[in-house]
Amino acid sequence: MHTRGLITRHAEAQAVLADTRYVPPPVRQDGQEGTLAWLRARVSRFSTGQAHAERRRLLTERLATVDTTVDAAGLRAAARAMTEERGGDWRGVPTAVLGAALGISDTSAVPAAAAGYLSGEESREADAAVAELIRLADLPAITLLLQGHAAVEGLIETALKHAEPGDDIDALLAETLRQDPPLKATRRLDTRTGDEVTIDLVAANRDPEVFPDPARFDPARGRGPHLTFGSGVRPCPAPAHALALAAGVLDALLGGSPR
Ligand code: HEM
Repeated sequence: MHTRGLITRHAEAQAVLADTRYVPPPVRQDGQEGTLAWLRARVSRFSTGQAHAERRRLLTERLATVDTTVDAAGLRAAARAMTEERGGDWRGVPTAVLGAALGISDTSAVPAAAAGYLSGEESREADAAVAELIRLADLPAITLLLQGHAAVEGLIETALKHAEPGDDIDALLAETLRQDPPLKATRRLDTRTGDEVTIDLVAANRDPEVFPDPARFDPARGRGPHLTFGSGVRPCPAPAHALALAAGVLDALLGGSPR
């Protein structure tokens, strides 16, 4: 019988994330062309081995086009400016700014497609949104937009809850990422046994062996080795982009200094 385990210790989480014998649980491969299921069968996030390496390479190359045209400081300034233009109505801003940097001018279909991207929950709305995105953008760019969307918005939402007057925005974001990560867990399948493990990122980020007084929200603790962006074989390729987009929105909302 296959079991389901929960990993809560930082060291063990890091070891599993670095071990190629643990893979993301496979997704269905028989989705009709242009649907959410079809997309999930084609992206780096849910593939393994050679396919993963090749798809991840394409993604990273696509992401690098942002670095040369609009660097992290540019993303931050653009997110700030768009939030101000919209009078503080920041939802959709990070994705619109990332889309523009990737050369995609209409990102309105992203939220509906992103809703099922990680969970795999299929719906007519998600399929229609994926079909629309395929018309507008290439697969690596779509993947980047869908991966980033909910996580960056979740980070902003939580940081706003923790914000205190006069906070340094980078420190606020770093501690929010550790203590209250937007993605709470990730799963792996042990290819030797078929058992599934869930890596509890919240618990690993509060492991007392790594983070003293872990439950305390303390922006002054500085950047620690939190696992919010993953680790090992397939970490998030875009922490700098995520942080720049979130910081730009917070600059506008919390009145950070202009950059
Ligand atoms: C605060 C925001 C973000 C968080 C917390 C986050 C977190 C993560 C995590 C934990 C993983 C690894 C999942 C696993 O190992 O199971 C991941 C993968 C990924 N992230 Fe992010 N991410 C964020 C923003 C972004 C943004 C803005 C982008 C795009 C520009 C992005 C693109 C990706 C991609 C493409 C992968 C898959 C990598 C692969 O397949 O090897 N992420 N992210």
